[in-house]
Amino acid sequence: MATTPKSDAFVTWFRQVAPYIHAFRGRTFVIAFGGEAVAERGRFAQFVHDVNLLAALGIRLVLVHGARPQIEAQLKGRKLRSRFVRGLRITDAESLAAVKQAAGVLRVELEAMLSQGLPNSPMAGAQIRVASGNYITARPLGVLDGVDFQFTGQVRRVDAQAISRRLDAGEVVLVPHIGYSPTGEVFNLAWEDVAENVAVAVKADKLLMFCERLPAGADGSLLAELTAKEALALAKRSAGLPPPTARALEHVSRAVISGVQRAHLLPRKVLGAALLELFTHSGIGSMITADPVEQLRPAEIEDVGGILALIEPLEADGTLVKRNRDLLESEIANFHVIEHDGVIVGCAALYRFANDRSGELACLAVAPGYRDSGYGERLLKVCEEQARKHRLKRVFALTTRAAHWFLSQGFKAGDVSALPSDRQQLYNWKRGSKVFLKRI
Ligand SMILES: CC(C)(COP(=O)(O)OP(=O)(O)OC[C@H]1O[C@@H](n2cnc3c(N)ncnc32)[C@H](O)[C@@H]1OP(=O)(O)O)[C@@H](O)C(=O)NCCC(=O)NCCS
Repeated sequence: MATTPKSDAFVTWFRQVAPYIHAFRGRTFVIAFGGEAVAERGRFAQFVHDVNLLAALGIRLVLVHGARPQIEAQLKGRKLRSRFVRGLRITDAESLAAVKQAAGVLRVELEAMLSQGLPNSPMAGAQIRVASGNYITARPLGVLDGVDFQFTGQVRRVDAQAISRRLDAGEVVLVPHIGYSPTGEVFNLAWEDVAENVAVAVKADKLLMFCERLPAGADGSLLAELTAKEALALAKRSAGLPPPTARALEHVSRAVISGVQRAHLLPRKVLGAALLELFTHSGIGSMITADPVEQLRPAEIEDVGGILALIEPLEADGTLVKRNRDLLESEIANFHVIEHDGVIVGCAALYRFANDRSGELACLAVAPGYRDSGYGERLLKVCEEQARKHRLKRVFALTTRAAHWFLSQGFKAGDVSALPSDRQQLYNWKRGSKVFLKRI
């Protein structure tokens, strides 16, 4: 049977997702959301389906949740007023009763939603076991600026071992915004604080936190990638950021600084936001990392697999000369790579011809989705720098497809006879590459 454009698109899409599936299996993700997310039934049901899918892919999941609107509703029912200072609720004894009530009801509701398994629904066949418990030891926040926060607490310790044991057993762990003290008291905690501490304690690979509005730059455009240092500075300045966004940013940045590999702020109102962020190349949220997401650096032996994946399609269509793994491994010291979020998206090599005081720029490649962003030029620049360091006087390149690119980079077309003599002997006349040279 012939394939259709639709089926082809599906297969292509599925193949694009495959590397992420491999990469995420067995990893630990903490997903955190406020009570607002749970309050919107329809949207939350979809989110639960996504959680189910992530669990089915073998991702170890810890869900951390808050309950602000649910607590508000309880307080209203009791004709009590909320008091917030520094964005944190002051929990007195009466409010604490409302907090316990809200947390208890929410836990049952969350467990019920995660237990669904209706046929003909995305949850069909799902058998999620949910583990919830007293994983958080808390202490009172105390008196700040003369205000006693009473039963509002902060995380003192996370029982990471207990959480890991449940994850090892294949269960999804549910951690509420409630902590217990060794004296048996109950504390109401900020869910963002719980999420940060849980993610650090279980050494999560990712912390995903939902928020109402994502951080944006001065021109209103999404800040899609930030280092933890940049994010923390932004959160502290909080210029233009809504307070809940600043708070979320601060907690996820701290988690990253304390060792969580990646944090992602996700827009709560976008359906499938977690899937879009995790399984598409450009994502949808703000990603916070310890180091810049993108790095131009000398290649290491571990990069050989990534370089091969990048250049094989270009070898197959004749753009680049074939190099096998052994050759690449032996020549890896000549290479530089550009890495984007752990994936090699660009490479280039400089081969030195010391007698001729020249260097060949070879195997220059940028992954299709990353072209026209200056990566090629940066790779060329770093090779030229290397050449200067070795006191070479010129660089040259042989190309069949990128003649104009080299011209635009200041190269001049030349003759095979202009190449170093040992390189002339290796020249492949059948391939007929054009020669470009540049004085440096
Ligand atoms: C050549 C290559 C490395 C350029 O990488 P890149 O990161 O897209 O390049 P830059 O962003 O620095 O430069 C982009 C500019 O070059 C132009 N350009 C890109 N590839 C080109 C090509 N093959 N021929 C002519 N111009 C090209 C773009 O149109 C763009 O021009 P603009 O700024 O006027 O819009 C990339 O296209 C590639 O990997 N090609 C396949 C492999 C190859 O041919 N390698 C060279 C042989 S060693």
